[in-house]
Amino acid sequence: MTVPFDGIALGCDYNPEQWPREVWPYDVELMRGAGVGFVTLGVFSWALLEPSPGRFDFDWFDEVLAVLHTGGIAVDMATATASPPPWLTTAHPEILPVDARGATLWPGGRQAWCPSSPVFRDHALRLVAEMARRYGDHPAVRLWHVSNELGCHNGRCYCDVSAAAFRVWLTDRYGSAEKLNDAWGTAFWSQHYGGFDEVLPPRLGTATPNPTQELDFARFCSDELLSHYRAERDVLRAHSAVPVTTNLMVTAHQSEQDNHRWGRELDVVAQDHYLDHRLADPHAEQSFASDLTRGVARGAPWLLMESAPSAVNWQPVNRAKRPGELLLDSLSYVARGADAVGFFQWRASRAGAEKFHSALVPHAGPDSAAYREVVGLGAALARIGEVAGSRVRADVAVLFDWECWWACDQPSHPSGELRYLDAPTRWHRAITGLGATADVVAPGTELRGYRLVVVPTLYLCSDATAAALAEYVRGGGHVLVTYFSGLVDESDHIRLGGYPGAFRELLGVRSEEFAPLLPGETVTLDDGSSADLWTESLAAPDAEVLARYVDGPLPGTPALTRRAVGAGAAWYVATRLDDAALSRLADRLTREAGVTRPEEPVVGVELVRRGRYLFVLNRGDAPAAVPAHGTELLSGGQVDGTVTVAAGAAAVIREGT
Ligand code: GAL
Repeated sequence: MTVPFDGIALGCDYNPEQWPREVWPYDVELMRGAGVGFVTLGVFSWALLEPSPGRFDFDWFDEVLAVLHTGGIAVDMATATASPPPWLTTAHPEILPVDARGATLWPGGRQAWCPSSPVFRDHALRLVAEMARRYGDHPAVRLWHVSNELGCHNGRCYCDVSAAAFRVWLTDRYGSAEKLNDAWGTAFWSQHYGGFDEVLPPRLGTATPNPTQELDFARFCSDELLSHYRAERDVLRAHSAVPVTTNLMVTAHQSEQDNHRWGRELDVVAQDHYLDHRLADPHAEQSFASDLTRGVARGAPWLLMESAPSAVNWQPVNRAKRPGELLLDSLSYVARGADAVGFFQWRASRAGAEKFHSALVPHAGPDSAAYREVVGLGAALARIGEVAGSRVRADVAVLFDWECWWACDQPSHPSGELRYLDAPTRWHRAITGLGATADVVAPGTELRGYRLVVVPTLYLCSDATAAALAEYVRGGGHVLVTYFSGLVDESDHIRLGGYPGAFRELLGVRSEEFAPLLPGETVTLDDGSSADLWTESLAAPDAEVLARYVDGPLPGTPALTRRAVGAGAAWYVATRLDDAALSRLADRLTREAGVTRPEEPVVGVELVRRGRYLFVLNRGDAPAAVPAHGTELLSGGQVDGTVTVAAGAAAVIREGT
């Protein structure tokens, strides 16, 4: 898996159909000046490439490609199937997606198609074959880009075609209705199925839906989209040797795809990421998403396909980047494994739903402060080109699982306040805040190379994952498990005999009952920590108790435990610690486990080690001094002992001589 562009490439979506022909050569000239190395072409071009059924118009596209190629710009070629043209939805309204209430989602926006529709797929694959035959060995085309953000708007469709496909998927998974009845626990609420023909997608109903039906439907929807990806990829491969990808959305918003499964199918993992200023700490989410994308790529370099040069246009208030932020934000992706930094889009649109979304060339044109930042970014990426291909090394793994997310966030659980993303993102933030590097990986990942493994709210957990963690601790590893972990198996069935089921033995603890806290309610621990959300009636028959509650529903009950196992240890935190207490615990754990990190954290500074390169991104208000030796690539200067990075600036140091 290598990113097929040169160095650390700067790139963008290019939508030339929105501009007159005369602009194209000028665009390419500007791109060259800014150091743009690749563009993604054709994402939403279907309606113009196939203006009526079976009639293709590639002339204008050939011309664009020729201009780009002459300018030395590489192309990430979209298959153009993301959004069906109006003639297709007019002729075949049955391809439109339907929501859980049975309402049709009409065309007029984008991506209005049902992932299970054979009619849509036939039309899409016909276009893909045309594209592949025509451009499969074009010298400018270095990468294929299937569809666009598969599942972004149409991830779950509940129409009759989807229902039939769901039944086929269930038949493959279970083989018999009896097995499905067992897995779905249909003895409850008179849900027993006499055959697969009685099964429906979880459409809006009267009461809490069957949780395993919901979970299987989420799995099915991810698989349907993946099968669409595979179908397009296979057509491409039949005509072209160029690698294939699609842009994933590995973020804290989107949970329609099991990206760990998807990552294995892509020739190179590509990710779209937009800072979300609705969050308390958008950059913490950026770092988490990047480290998780690297996990999806199983450690290999990945491609940031899209991000925003400045503001987006889909948040309640769209914050523009301040001077210098474009460089820092872009370097953060590179530090965490990106070998290319792409943006949506080249030129800000004059019309359409995204005309207020920022672009590399703003409405003001190239004579603008924003464009000068883009040119500066291009120059900076050119200076750090040698970083490409190097790998991030992390001592800490945080386990993250999409199936667990789907199961954990269902209704009718002990606390509706408990959301899956909370614990993984907070633990990641606490650990990286100490200056340590963390991978965010799938539960099945080989753990031997890590010094510390964090298992945050791994509500759903297989026997194999539990066994691998126990084995890891026996081998001298350190594991921290949080509340609401190990409770159910892959069918979302409770593991009986006391909580936290799968991890009881490893942790040496047992709970009989949960006692979640009401919103706003807090508890104090006898080590001075404060916590909220969760408590449970924990006993620690085979573990050392490190802290107990002094108040709340369970005074005197263990809240934090540690079980020593040879040179390793298994920790359990049974409540949600506040930020300060979480950071203290992360500090203690990383020191005890021998995790590489600075002796004292440098507040406000993002510190990441990628291969022999140290990235220092100073997001604070004061200059930061960090120990380092080597060459600073952005300035070309030597660093001998300490690098001092001004507020809002960055350094990338090749360590050693
Ligand atoms: C992505 C999408 C782009 C553009 C961008 C900015 O979701 O792939 O086409 O819409 O967001 O909002």
